[in-house]
This record gives sequence, C-alpha cells and structure tokens, in this order.
Amino acid sequence: MSESSAVVQVRDLVKEHGHGESRVRAVDEVDLVVPEGQTLAVMGPSGCGKSTLLHLMGGLERPSRGEVWLAGQRIDGLSERALARMRRRSVGFVFQAFHLVEELSAVENVELPALLAGRSPRQARRRAGALLERVGLTARARHLPSQLSGGQRQRVAIARALANEPLVVLADEPTGNLDSAATLDVLRIFEELRSAGQTLVIVTHDERVAATADRLVSMRDGMFVDDTRLAGFHPRGLGGLIGLEG
Ligand SMILES: Nc1ncnc2c1ncn2[C@@H]1O[C@H](COP(=O)(O)OP(=O)(O)OP(=O)(O)O)[C@@H](O)[C@H]1O
Ligand SMILES: [Mg+2]
Repeated sequence: MSESSAVVQVRDLVKEHGHGESRVRAVDEVDLVVPEGQTLAVMGPSGCGKSTLLHLMGGLERPSRGEVWLAGQRIDGLSERALARMRRRSVGFVFQAFHLVEELSAVENVELPALLAGRSPRQARRRAGALLERVGLTARARHLPSQLSGGQRQRVAIARALANEPLVVLADEPTGNLDSAATLDVLRIFEELRSAGQTLVIVTHDERVAATADRLVSMRDGMFVDDTRLAGFHPRGLGGLIGLEG
C-alpha cells in the first residue's frame, strides 16, 4: 500500500447495482485514503452513493471494480468467511436504525461482538461494562433496547461498535433518527473518540455532525466533488458544553 499510515484506502472504486436498463453506478471511480486518527465526514444528496461507499469500505459489499485496503490488507477479494472475520475484528459499524438485538439487554448487545471474536465471557462483560460507562449508560446496562430512548439506543450501538477496538468506526447517518438533544450526546461521544485518536468515517446530512470532523468530502452521483480539511475550524470544547446524561 502506498500510504503506510492509511487505515482505509480505496482505489478506482466502482460499484454498480442492478442489471441492464436498471443498472445504477452508485460509486464511480472513487479514490480515498483515510489516515489513522482522522475523522472524515461524508455528505451529499440522497442516492449519491454514501452508504454504498461506506459498505464497500467495511467489506459489507463487494466492489464491481477497484480495490479496498484495510490497514495494509486488500480485502475486496477475501472469501466470505475471511471477510466476516475481518469485519468483526477491525470494523465497527453504526447505523441510523441502531440494529440492536431486541432480545438482548444493552450490556449483552455490547459484549456480543467480543464473544463472537472469541473473547472469554468474563473479558467481554468487563469490556462491555467499561464501554457503557464511556457512553454514559451504566445505569441502563440491563435494559432491553425497547426500554431505551433513541439516543440511548444509539449510544449502546456505538459502544457495541467499539467492542473489539476496531481500526475504524463507520457510521451511516448515526443521528438520522435522533432529536437535537440526543444528537448532541452522540456528537460528544464522537468528539471523545476523535480526541482519543479513533479513526472514524461518518456519513451525515447534519452540518453539526460534519463540523466535528477533521475533513469533509462531498459526494454527488457516486463521485467526490469536494474534499476539505476542517482542521482549525474544529469546535473545540464542544464536549464541555454538552451535558451527557443516562
Ligand atoms: N441494493 C441495491 N440495488 C439497486 N440499487 C441500489 C442498491 N443500493 C443502492 N442502490 C442505488 O445506488 C445509489 C446509491 O445508493 P446509496 O444508498 O449508496 O445512497 P446514499 O447516498 O446513501 O443515499 P441516502 O442519503 O438516501 O441514504 C442509489 O441510486 C440507489 O438507488
Ligand atoms: Mg444512505
């Protein structure tokens, strides 16, 4: 790989959905390097290919053409099994609709990825407890998702995404279903992750979310139309202004 500090790199990436007349080029010859520790925001109109790009970066979908590299390993040609293993170990996904397991409590949801990765129940539980504390939800550990607010659910989902200390967290509209107060809670967590050096890619329609990033790329019709460094404009101290409550 040409850039050794890159956590994620894509080259000449193309993804086409559908066949024949209904074929859509969702991602159109994209090149991108996400260095270690960067918080990258991706914005653009509905249907421009943001989710598809995120899925390709995390190995949830395979490209039609081009390369996807994760921490120096090319992943687009891996077997399903190897890809699943790589995702489990190296990628943390956060989705707009949370995607929690409804039958499991908050702490059980958070420990699940660690258990699937082969950690002992004890290790997994300890880590899950620490992560719930980090997102301000210790008091809700035994609650089912249905007993939590949207913002609390998303914080559980973020804790779950961090369970295996991923190389990168990929978040798709993480505040899309949240009200303003819950959005600020999630923003504060992202801000803390950014400060801690976590590599993050956040797809968002929300300017406030994008403003917490180091870099903003704008997409249109599957392509990048703008790539801006935000360093220096970062709203430092944002976290201090926001009370995070369970
Ligand atoms: N599984 C699929 N089959 C066919 N077409 C698809 C599929 N997934 C996405 N598309 C198409 O690919 C294009 C990009 O979709 P994508 O979901 O990546 O957009 P997006 O930028 O995430 O949009 P939004 O902001 O609405 O979430 C769209 O035209 C969409 O209709
Ligand atoms: Mg989308």
